[in-house]
Amino acid sequence: MAKLSIKDLQLKGKRVFMRVDFNVPLDDAGHVTDDTRIRETLPTIEYALRQGARLILASHLGRPKGKFNAAMSLKPVAERLRILLDQQLDSACNVGFATDCIGVQAEEMANNLEAGQTLLLENLRFHPEEERNDPEFAKKLASLAELYVNDAFGSAHRAHASTEGITHFIPKAAAGLLMEKELQYLGKALEDPHHPFVAIIGGAKVSDKIEVIRNLLNKVDAILIGGAMAYTFLKSQGAQIGKSLVEDDRLDLAKQLLAEAKQKKVRFLLPVDHVLADKMDARAEAKVISTSEPVPADQMGLDIGPATVEAFASEIKNARTIVWNGPMGVFEMAPFAQGTMKIAQAVAGNCDAISIVGGGDSVAAVHAAGVADKITHISTGGGASLEFLEGKKLPGVEALTNK
Ligand code: 3PG
Repeated sequence: MAKLSIKDLQLKGKRVFMRVDFNVPLDDAGHVTDDTRIRETLPTIEYALRQGARLILASHLGRPKGKFNAAMSLKPVAERLRILLDQQLDSACNVGFATDCIGVQAEEMANNLEAGQTLLLENLRFHPEEERNDPEFAKKLASLAELYVNDAFGSAHRAHASTEGITHFIPKAAAGLLMEKELQYLGKALEDPHHPFVAIIGGAKVSDKIEVIRNLLNKVDAILIGGAMAYTFLKSQGAQIGKSLVEDDRLDLAKQLLAEAKQKKVRFLLPVDHVLADKMDARAEAKVISTSEPVPADQMGLDIGPATVEAFASEIKNARTIVWNGPMGVFEMAPFAQGTMKIAQAVAGNCDAISIVGGGDSVAAVHAAGVADKITHISTGGGASLEFLEGKKLPGVEALTNK
C-alpha cells in the first residue's frame, strides 16, 4: 500500500502513540462483554512490543460528549488487555493506565515506559477537543510520543484529533497490521475483485445504503437486497406492502437505482417471498407469502422467505467475491431469523470465494449462525467499512505518511 506501515518504522526504544479502536461493549458492572476489537489489534501490539517499542495506546469508548463518564472509562479494557497480552506473549504483562489522555500524569507515565512496556490512556472523548480535531489537543497527544501508528480502522472515517490532527505534529504516521488487513481485503474487493462479485445489502433503510449501492453498481455482477429496505424498492415497483417499513420519500430514488442496475447489466435481486406478521414480536404468528401478492393492511414483512433464500443462495454459490452488509430480516427474533441465518450459511459455504462481512448486525449474524470462522474477513469497522464501500476516502487513512 502507498502508506507507511508499522513494519517500515524503527520502533526500538521509541515512544509509539498507537491509536486503537477499543470501543467495546461493557456490561453494567463494567466488564468487557465482547473483546473482538481488542483481540484483533493484538498482532500489532505484539509486533510493536517485540520490536522494543515503548507503547502508548489510545482509544475512544462510546460517545461521552466531551465529559468524564465513569461508565465509559477504558480502565476495564486495560485489565482485559493485560489478560490477553499475558496469553499472547506467554509472560506476565503490566498494562499501565493513565486516568487522563493528556497532562502531567500521562506525560510522566509515557516518559517512564521502558522498551516492551505498555500504557493505555483514558478515553480520548472525555475531551471535547478530540472530536473537534482541535490542533492544540492533537499537539498535546503528539508530544507524548516520537512515532504514530493507527490501527483503529473502525474509527478511520472520523477526522478527529487522535486519528487525523495528531499526524501533523509527529514525524511519521504509519498503519498498523489490522488497519492494513482491513484496507487490503476491502480495497481488493473494490479495485480488483474476482468475478462473479455479489453484494448482499440489507438493513432498515435505503437512505443509509444509497451511496454503497451506487458505488457497488459499478463493480458487482449482482446485488441481493434484503431487510426492511427491500420494501422501498418493492413499493417503487407498485407492490402493496401493508404496514412494512418503507421510506416513502425514497421511492423515486429506489426506481432510479433499479434503472441504473438494469442499464449496467447488474442483476438486482429483490425478495420474491417474505415472512409476514402483524407486529415485530417474537411471539407473533408468522406466515410466508409471495411478494407478488399484496401484503394485508395489518401485516408487515419481517424476513425474506425460503424462495428468496434459494434465489440468493444460488447467486452466492457461484460468486468469487462476496461483500455482505446488513441483515435480511429481524434476525434477533426467532420467527424472523431464518433468512439471515441461511444467507450466513450460504456465504460461509462458498469456500472458493473471498467473503467479507461488515457492519455490526451482519457481523453479529455470522456469529449467531456459528459460521464466523468460515468468513474470509470480518471487518472491525461498522461505519468505516460502509464509508469505504461507498468509495469515500477515510481521513484516518489519508492522514498517514506516504511511502
Ligand atoms: C464504531 O464503533 O463504529 C467506531 O468505534 C466508531 O465509533 P463512533 O461511531 O462513535 O465514532
